[in-house]
Amino acid sequence: MIPRTLRIALAACLAAWGLQALAQDFPNRPITLVMPYAPGGPGDTITRVFAGALQKTLGQQVLVENPAGASGSIGTARVARARPDGYTLLMIHVSHATNLVMFKSLPYHPVDDFEAIGSATSGPMLIATRANFPAKDLNEFIAYLRANQSKVSLAHAGVGSASHLCGLMMMNTLNVKLNEIPYKGTGPALNDLMGGQVDVLCDQTSGIVPSVKSGRIKAYAAAGRTRLPQLPDMPAISEAGVQGFDINISFGLYAPKGTPKPVLDQLSAALQKAVTDPEVRQRLEGMGVSAVPVERARPDALRAHLKSEIDVLGGLLVRAGVKPE
Ligand code: MLT
Repeated sequence: MIPRTLRIALAACLAAWGLQALAQDFPNRPITLVMPYAPGGPGDTITRVFAGALQKTLGQQVLVENPAGASGSIGTARVARARPDGYTLLMIHVSHATNLVMFKSLPYHPVDDFEAIGSATSGPMLIATRANFPAKDLNEFIAYLRANQSKVSLAHAGVGSASHLCGLMMMNTLNVKLNEIPYKGTGPALNDLMGGQVDVLCDQTSGIVPSVKSGRIKAYAAAGRTRLPQLPDMPAISEAGVQGFDINISFGLYAPKGTPKPVLDQLSAALQKAVTDPEVRQRLEGMGVSAVPVERARPDALRAHLKSEIDVLGGLLVRAGVKPE
């Protein structure tokens, strides 16, 4: 009979050997990278940049899939349930934090059911409208919202999404109540904005700057204290005397809880290589987005970032009186 302590030691050695073998062999088939918002939006655009970079480093295809809906929680739940083997990953932003506050019965916990791999990007947002919106500048835009309130439709990607939080900050700081129209992502929302079916969309630069430059939509302000380099003539909302409206969106990479540490280490190393890759940095900068400093592309940094977003932005929703669904 093998003594218990020896049995435990043997089991630990076999487990470590198994993990080591898995890690040495990882990846030996394509990886699925879930982006839980619709194709064509800012999240999808950013995710595809990183899919290409990770594929180059890991030597296996990284296939982006967009199981969208319910403010990103449908796709996120899919990753929470996936085998923890490193072959199903999640790229997500602030809605990973806000969904914890927004949904009474979320089928996962954003912290307990995931392994943080690292942050990838950060980027500003801007306030845009349909091309024929009847305001010639930022002050007229604000006056129009105040005069027309719920007659003005505000598109977003679902309660707790970046576009919703930006819209919420806009309504709170301007003291207006607009008519919210939710979509499965701001890709489809942008189509309706260009078609004139909705009036206002607050979105990340990686989603709408090209449409602003082409004149297919109009933009009135950067959603913060500083102007955007790609649209230098467009004021920041703070220039209209609006305080407390400043939002920046960061995307991070996650794996299901229980993914072996050697695999997580490989994925984080590949992410760190991506954020320091000049080609990746240049592509993101062209969208008005920044790759994070390499020290943020690590698990502990993403865990800390997620915790702060749960505390701060989750609190914003509660203070705004947004009721959990
Ligand atoms: C959002 O939070 O608004 C989403 O990122 C939009 C999107 O990526 O489609």
